[in-house]
Amino acid sequence: MSEETIKVVVRRREEQGHGVLVLDLASAEGGALPPFEAGAHVDVHLGDGLVRQYSLAGTPADRSVYRLGILKDPKSRGGSVAAHERLREGTEIRIGVPRNHFPLAMDARHTVLVGGGIGITPMIAMAHALSDAGKSFELHYCGRTRAACAFLDELTAGAFADRVHPHFDDGGEAQRLDLGAVLGKADPGAHIYVCGPSGFMDWVIGEARRLGLPEARIHKEYFQVETDSSGGAFDVVARKSGKTVRVEEGQTIVDALAAVGIKIQVSCEQGVCGTCLCNVLEGVPDHRDIFLTDEEKADNDQMLLCCSRAKTETLVLDI
Ligand code: FES
Repeated sequence: MSEETIKVVVRRREEQGHGVLVLDLASAEGGALPPFEAGAHVDVHLGDGLVRQYSLAGTPADRSVYRLGILKDPKSRGGSVAAHERLREGTEIRIGVPRNHFPLAMDARHTVLVGGGIGITPMIAMAHALSDAGKSFELHYCGRTRAACAFLDELTAGAFADRVHPHFDDGGEAQRLDLGAVLGKADPGAHIYVCGPSGFMDWVIGEARRLGLPEARIHKEYFQVETDSSGGAFDVVARKSGKTVRVEEGQTIVDALAAVGIKIQVSCEQGVCGTCLCNVLEGVPDHRDIFLTDEEKADNDQMLLCCSRAKTETLVLDI
């Protein structure tokens, strides 16, 4: 989570598609907001300790506002519902400075952007950046129905409308996304970017791999994952605090530590953002996150405390 925050005011609030809150946030002090790169996100502080990450969905060329799209998910852990209920025009909130874990390679010969549902948000910023730079790209927007899709009107009427390809689940076969055809026609050096629900992403990534795209040219951002917290109990020794705590079956390390007064800062609580990263001094973690790379996981010297567990009876942590 970003430590540095900015005070912003909701300048515009609009409901689009099915349950998507589109917000324009301006600096509360006036003037330009800090610059951001396509693919970046901000932490939004929603009150009561709730902090959630949302991708910036506007153009990086416009620093007068940050545009967000927030899907209301009643099954979520409260972040999106709080955003929909609390953020009105004129509301002042704090947000983190933009950070980018999903950078765009501007030197690609061709770029295929694929957004599923609310996963369209980082793709919009990427499309603007590529369009402004005169780069070759295409944007595929997959949604359940036309009516469900936020941002569709601005995309299909904007400066790069000719490169926007909507695909609807309830549409005809001819308009379905055929990744084989898309990549078959694309420059062999093309890069693909995907964001959306995890099942959709698995399908796109699987297709891209099957079609022979090298891993280095498949870029992905998960905004929602289901972490598996099952597994037996184990002990955690907090070396600096001198405390040992039992992590029970079904309990997270974060919750077990909180019970003995050790507060770990969290944000996504899904192994996505890296906020709860901690050094491991002894023992072998059972990594359940999607933040660390496979190489970093293999080193076993750091872990995410919101979701990962232990393969050994005891973990000694640097806290
Ligand atoms: S809180 Fe986001 S990875 Fe743990």
